[in-house]
Amino acid sequence: MCGIIGYVGPRVAHAVVVEGLRRMEYRGYDSAGVAVITAEGISLRKKAGKIANLDALLATDPIPASGTGIGHTRWATHGGPTDVNAHPHVSSNGRVALIHNGIIENFAVLRAELQAQGVEFSSETDTEVAAQLLGEGVAAGADLADAMRSVCRRLEGAFTLVAIDSTQPGRLVAARRNSPLVVGVGEGENFVASDVAAFIEFTRQAIELGQDQMVDVTADSITVTDFDGAPAASHPFEVTWDLSAAEKGGYDWFMRKEIFEQPKAVADTLLGRFTPDGALTLDELRIPEAEIRGVDKIIIVACGTAYYAGLVAKYAIEHWARIACEVEIASEFRYRDPIITGSTLVVTISQSGETADTLMAIRHAREQKAKVIAICNTNGATIPRESDAVIYTHAGPEIGVASTKGFLTQVAACYLLGLYLAQVRGSMYDDEIRHVMTELAATPPLIQQVLDSLDQITDLAARFVDTKSVLFLGRHVGYPIALEGALKLKELAYLHAEGFPAGELKHGPIALVEEGVPIFIVVPPQGRDQLHDKVVSNIQEVRARGALTIVLAEEGDEEVVPYADVLFRLPKVSTLLQPLVATVPLQMFACELATLKGYDVDQPRNLAKSVTVE
Ligand code: F6R
Repeated sequence: MCGIIGYVGPRVAHAVVVEGLRRMEYRGYDSAGVAVITAEGISLRKKAGKIANLDALLATDPIPASGTGIGHTRWATHGGPTDVNAHPHVSSNGRVALIHNGIIENFAVLRAELQAQGVEFSSETDTEVAAQLLGEGVAAGADLADAMRSVCRRLEGAFTLVAIDSTQPGRLVAARRNSPLVVGVGEGENFVASDVAAFIEFTRQAIELGQDQMVDVTADSITVTDFDGAPAASHPFEVTWDLSAAEKGGYDWFMRKEIFEQPKAVADTLLGRFTPDGALTLDELRIPEAEIRGVDKIIIVACGTAYYAGLVAKYAIEHWARIACEVEIASEFRYRDPIITGSTLVVTISQSGETADTLMAIRHAREQKAKVIAICNTNGATIPRESDAVIYTHAGPEIGVASTKGFLTQVAACYLLGLYLAQVRGSMYDDEIRHVMTELAATPPLIQQVLDSLDQITDLAARFVDTKSVLFLGRHVGYPIALEGALKLKELAYLHAEGFPAGELKHGPIALVEEGVPIFIVVPPQGRDQLHDKVVSNIQEVRARGALTIVLAEEGDEEVVPYADVLFRLPKVSTLLQPLVATVPLQMFACELATLKGYDVDQPRNLAKSVTVE
């Protein structure tokens, strides 16, 4: 949500800034703007809608070249997505331009205070109070960095702020609390941004700013302090992927590219997990084994697709490690006053590592003395930083707003965690763990096999362009797959889609089944006969009521054939690992249907990639 970029250096700042905004489009936004410092002061252009609208404005009303600029893509919270509410905001005395990600919770009080002093506001945003306060500060003679720190001390809530002062070309200041900010370290030029994708074209050297830190940036210097001005330690790192990973590479959508990257993403996530003597190792897990042995309950907290990965994890962890495992939607977690003790292990799952609901759940858990393990795809993001330990998924950048490779790698990381817990607690023999790991390591080519066999998906999607409702059924780990299939369809194709546990259907939802309604059914592998046979019965139940059945079943499963109007074959894997192969056709179906309907697959309406507000 909201993309922020600032640049100081020899290049044409607005060009760098607009390109950086484009690379952060995936975060979700509904207006965009840029400001630079010129000899005449701040020069500003901003426009509601997509960056193309800003491009058009810059073409008809060019902005002067400058070496210092900031830019922003806004996802509206306070005030609609209009030109006026778009960022940057310029203080009414014209001194500073400022951009903001997050929500300033005490903005109403501050706004009233400033208005009482005669300051005139031009927008409805919470952000403008920060711009006005900063403008007042520097006009009163404070140094830009001092003024920024003093503004930060007055704000409550979540914010990343970046500002420039018209009297100080070649300098910008930025600050963060509860919202991401990274510095890109170039040679004779520097960047600040919400996300490394914004500057990866120019440098892979980055610095992650800590909580309540501020950075003062020129082309040749980067000074990090806390909000009181004391020098602060920051976290330098090197970005391990390059520009090509953040580009479409010949695909029409990032999402499609990311679906096809899944074999590699899962393989990378599983890589290097054995010690030379054959034990499973999670390097990043700094929690002592004695503490892990003492865990009496696991609570997994996450949102959306990551939550569904957590539902899969529950089956695996309880089966392998024999620890009771609850899964909770992060935004509900702290409000129900969960029972947490020092023996509770909280596991959070987040692709971005910045999801505010998940972050707040972690903070609550840690206040209650639980240990927190994060499963995350973004190195150095807030959630892993605030957790006791982290297991990184190695999916590479996920740009499409709808999570695909993020999900599969989260599921893979959850399996690793489950097996590791089993190893430490002795609930499985070593050879059993090795057997599952061998099977897990063999899944990437099987995911590829699924991808190679999806020729019928486009034709299938074409049959449902006018469909109003699609249902998904599954049992056991097939249930979270059903939920994920339905979510993908809602997000991308904007149609009613629901996932159900197959056995629950007859307790109500079967009333939705009428002639022709498409129902996807995830059939568990054969062998766990009860589970498999029950689902085969469920297919018959819905088909008898007129449903069009689209069945996902493993190779060689002939029992489903008479009841499948459409049949997708899945490679043979054990039941617990089936999500890694069965999710893929559902992702692809949603992608194809949305494409056929003419929707923007990478940036579905109303959605943001990184949901940094609660
Ligand atoms: C769905 C989707 C969202 C995210 C959710 C959590 O396709 O992408 O449901 O899974 O917003 O995001 P992260 O994993 O970044 O915490």
